[in-house]
Amino acid sequence: MVANITSVRHDFPILNTRLPNGQPLVYLDSGASAQRPQSVINKISEIYEHYYSNVHRGVHQLGDRVTSEMEASRSRIQAFIGASTPEEIIFTSGTTMSINLIAQTWGRHFLNGGDEIILNEMEHHANFVPWQAIAKERGAVLKFIPLTPDGRLDLEQYQSLLSPKTKLVAVTGMSNVLGTINPVEEMAQRAHEVGALIFVDGAQSVPHQPVHVVDSEIDFLAFSGHKLFGPSGIGVLYGRKKILETLPPFLYGGNMISEVHCDHSSWAQIPARFEAGTPAITEAIALGTAIDYVTELGFDAIQEQEHILSQYALQKLQEVPGLQIYGPQELEHRGAIFSFNIAGAHPEDLATLLDRKGIAVRHGHHCTMPLHQHLKIAASVRASLTFYNTTEEIDALIDALEFARKRLRLA
Ligand code: ALA
Repeated sequence: MVANITSVRHDFPILNTRLPNGQPLVYLDSGASAQRPQSVINKISEIYEHYYSNVHRGVHQLGDRVTSEMEASRSRIQAFIGASTPEEIIFTSGTTMSINLIAQTWGRHFLNGGDEIILNEMEHHANFVPWQAIAKERGAVLKFIPLTPDGRLDLEQYQSLLSPKTKLVAVTGMSNVLGTINPVEEMAQRAHEVGALIFVDGAQSVPHQPVHVVDSEIDFLAFSGHKLFGPSGIGVLYGRKKILETLPPFLYGGNMISEVHCDHSSWAQIPARFEAGTPAITEAIALGTAIDYVTELGFDAIQEQEHILSQYALQKLQEVPGLQIYGPQELEHRGAIFSFNIAGAHPEDLATLLDRKGIAVRHGHHCTMPLHQHLKIAASVRASLTFYNTTEEIDALIDALEFARKRLRLA
């Protein structure tokens, strides 16, 4: 357990509240949306109380302040993911919009009939459907990397799918269901050998492991503020400058133009070209504060705590009668996300009974229907943990599962 876990938990006021039914909250749903530390909450209030205004417009002092804070946040994000310049950081509404942006600009511009996109069945719908839609529109073909029985990508099969026809590989850094950590660096190298680009969905991986887009040769990376202990409604698209500069706009409107005439318009340089309209100003600034928090805590401490939690959760969950965990059993291949079913129990019933004991989990198909079809299940229950969780909370989950099994007459 990281030495300062008690003070870490004090940083997140919501973790210390009681639910309306009197139970202490056991929040095991950070994969859906994480909680935010007091510093982020304070930053949001500070902006609205003291200097909120629009950005990139006007010369008044408030405008100057928010513009410089938002651009400082962009630079913090650049450093955090190891990008080359702040212009490579595009503010979006979240991972979904980041992926759609590239599918609709790069895809429409560069994909042609017979080109291939490599996907796999563990992808979240957000990193699946946009590629499926643009492939259909452009006459491109989707190819799928098969999964191994323990829920990893079969890299030999990946190699055999790559060819000069491959234009893009889209892959998640960490599965939101299986917890599988994918070897994106190795996949990027192999993609580049055939001249393809790689798009990494970092929604689940960026909050839990360091990323360096230049060293890992990642062409595009998407992630969301709300899973990174920051605000919702803000996200990031990273793209290599040389590629982004070749792309047309995604949305049209204010801020993204160079000149507008009655019969034609020209576009601003990146990143403004992809940031039409008033952005989520407060959220973009407070995302920088969330990144400061994560950086200060450090990925060494974060990963140490998540490793302890994963080891404990894996062992304890496996002891629950009838419980099956999906995804890799070896910790080196997985993060702290545990999706499971208990024989004879409906996931929704389980989630409801866990909630009575104060345990917040997600149930359903977790926006991964192809994966659930592959696993031949309709739904599952998911406990997703992070550095502010404790082994005591895993004990509470196990006790609540016992309660649920009794209620469902499985015990
Ligand atoms: N993508 C989020 C999840 O996996 C919402 O729950």
